[in-house]
Amino acid sequence: MKKILLDRYGAPEENARCATVDDVGAPGAGEVVFDVLLFPINPADISFCRGTYRLRPPLPATPGAECVGRVTAVGDGVSDVKAGDLVITLQRENWAQQRRVKADDVIALPPRIDLRQAAMLRINPATALLLLTSLIDVKPGEWVIQNVANSAVGRLVIPLARARGIRTMNVVRRESLFAELAKLGADACVVDGDDLAERVKAKTAGGTIRLGLDAVSGRATHRIAECVGDDGVVCNYGSMSGEDPVMSRPALSGRGVRLAGFTLTRPLATYPRDKVRALYADLARQVIDGTLTAPVEQVYAIDDITRALAHAQRGERTGKILVAPTGSV
Ligand SMILES: NC(=O)c1ccc[n+]([C@@H]2O[C@H](COP(=O)([O-])OP(=O)(O)OC[C@H]3O[C@@H](n4cnc5c(N)ncnc54)[C@H](OP(=O)(O)O)[C@@H]3O)[C@@H](O)[C@H]2O)c1
Repeated sequence: MKKILLDRYGAPEENARCATVDDVGAPGAGEVVFDVLLFPINPADISFCRGTYRLRPPLPATPGAECVGRVTAVGDGVSDVKAGDLVITLQRENWAQQRRVKADDVIALPPRIDLRQAAMLRINPATALLLLTSLIDVKPGEWVIQNVANSAVGRLVIPLARARGIRTMNVVRRESLFAELAKLGADACVVDGDDLAERVKAKTAGGTIRLGLDAVSGRATHRIAECVGDDGVVCNYGSMSGEDPVMSRPALSGRGVRLAGFTLTRPLATYPRDKVRALYADLARQVIDGTLTAPVEQVYAIDDITRALAHAQRGERTGKILVAPTGSV
C-alpha cells in the first residue's frame, strides 16, 4: 500500500513523499482495518511536517490527524462496526491507503454523510463547538469575535453560534469574503488591521464582546484582546502567523481580560468514549442536515502529495485541500 512518509522536519512539500510499504495485514482481536477514502491537509499537519507541532515523533513519520475510511475487516470481539461501515478514527498517522487500529478508536458514521465533510469531521467541527461552549458561558445576544473567520473552523463557529443566539464578529483579511460569511449567518464582518477595536466598536453598537477566538497569534491576539470587553476571555487556539500570542498589560491587568489556550485533544481526553461518540453523532447529524459544512478547493491523488502540500499552504484558498488515497470517491 501507499503511505506518506516524512523523512525530515522542514518544508512539507520538500520532505514528505508517497512511499510503497507493506499492507497493514489482517485485524487482530479488537482491531479494525479500513481503507482510507479521504484525508484533509490541516494547518496542524503542515506544522507537524515543519517540526513545529506539539508532537514531534522520530523519523520517518506519517502525518495525518484525521481521515474518513471504509471498514474492510474486523477482528474477533468487534461488534460496534462491521465491514462496509464508514468510519473516522481518533488515532493519528492517517495519510495512508489503509489503517489497522483499535476498534475503541473508531467511530462509525451514518452511511448518508457526505464523504468530504466526513473526512473533516473529527477536528474542526468539534473544535468550533468546544471553543464556543466549553470556555465561558456566552449568553444569547452576546458577541463572540473571531479571526480567520473564513477558515474551516471560523465557518463552523458561525452557524454554531447562531443556533445559540450568540452574535459573531468575523475578522478576515479581505472584504470580498463578507457576503459569503453573511450567508452562513455572520452578524458582522471586518477586515483585520491596526484600528480593529474602533471599527468593531462601531459595529457592535454598545454590545459587549465576551469571548475572542484567535488562531493567528502574534499581534493579532493583541488586536482581538482590544475588542473584548473587560473581564472577557481571549482564547488562542492556533498560530497561522507562526508566532506566539501577544497581549498588552493594560488588557491583562488593567481590564482583567484573560488569555486562555485550547487544544481539542485536551478536553476530548477527559471524555468517556460514550461522550466522544455522542459528540460526533451530533456533529455528523448537523453535517447531514446541512448546518455544518466546510468548503473544499481541490482533491488530489496520494501520489500528488507534494503538489497537495504546496497548495494547502497558499493563502486565499476557497476551501480545504483533500487527498483521496484509494482513488476518486
Ligand atoms: N487547537 C486546536 O485544537 C485546533 C483544532 C483545529 C484547528 N485549529 C487551528 O485553527 C486554525 C484554522 O484551521 P482551519 O483548518 O480551519 O484552517 P483553514 O481552513 O485551512 O484556513 C486557514 C485560515 O488561516 C488564514 N491564514 C493563513 N495564513 C495566515 C496568516 N499569516 N495570518 C492570518 N491568517 C492567516 C487563512 O486566511 P486567508 O484566506 O486570508 O489566506 C484562512 O482563514 C489553524 O490555526 C489551526 O491550527 C486548532
